[in-house]
Amino acid sequence: MPDAPATWTVSSFETLDSTNRYALDAARAGADAGLVVVAAEQTAGRGRLGRSWIAPPGAALLCSVLLRPDLAPERLHLLTAAGALAMAEAVEDVCGLRPDLKWPNDLLVGDRKLAGVLAEADIDGRAVHAVVVGVGLNVQWDGFPPELARIATSCSRETGAPVSIPDVLAAFLARASIRLADLDAAFAEYRSRLGTLGRSVRVELASGPVVGIAVDLAPDGMLLVETASDGVVAVTAGDVVHLRPA
Ligand code: BTN
Repeated sequence: MPDAPATWTVSSFETLDSTNRYALDAARAGADAGLVVVAAEQTAGRGRLGRSWIAPPGAALLCSVLLRPDLAPERLHLLTAAGALAMAEAVEDVCGLRPDLKWPNDLLVGDRKLAGVLAEADIDGRAVHAVVVGVGLNVQWDGFPPELARIATSCSRETGAPVSIPDVLAAFLARASIRLADLDAAFAEYRSRLGTLGRSVRVELASGPVVGIAVDLAPDGMLLVETASDGVVAVTAGDVVHLRPA
């Protein structure tokens, strides 16, 4: 069972290109597990599937934690689950909002995205040297631009009250310490809270869309989708859209 780092060491910046990029470079240069890189603004924030991640300066918690887990590559998905769960718990601790979890890495309120998790690893063959778990959480962001207003939200928008980024960071690190110390328990809780299960979904894959009911999460982190034409299809990655029940 990999342990969470004994302590967190927070390194804060006004501006970075990407906290994940910085933390990965620090890992390759020998930084210890437990480094937490935080930026008020990112100029090249990274999202899943090669996308960018944007937020106005000071509006979001943008942080990356450096881990050196004793974990086989096929179990690295547990770190994304633990990170998403820890952030959902932190949001609830600080502002009473209980976000839904969407497979594999999103926190939603209704259909709007509140946060995303991006884990990136430094791996050599089967040797996992380091993993960086990056989280972007929209905290104090009101007045979304029109292209985001219907698909994104923030803690302050949902609660109608100011929410402190340092408070959410502290809560996240406390929750992450617990969740990373027992990844199997974290995965079980993540699965039980996963709003994707039981929903009609469309998963966009390079090979084309998979449409069906998300029936389960496999131990290897794959989403199992029961389709009308191909039976149960296991999905490793891709964009999931929660469809309304037919
Ligand atoms: C997603 O696509 O949903 C994942 C987004 C992850 C964004 C965070 S912001 C902090 C960290 N640094 C990055 O460059 N990306 C992650």
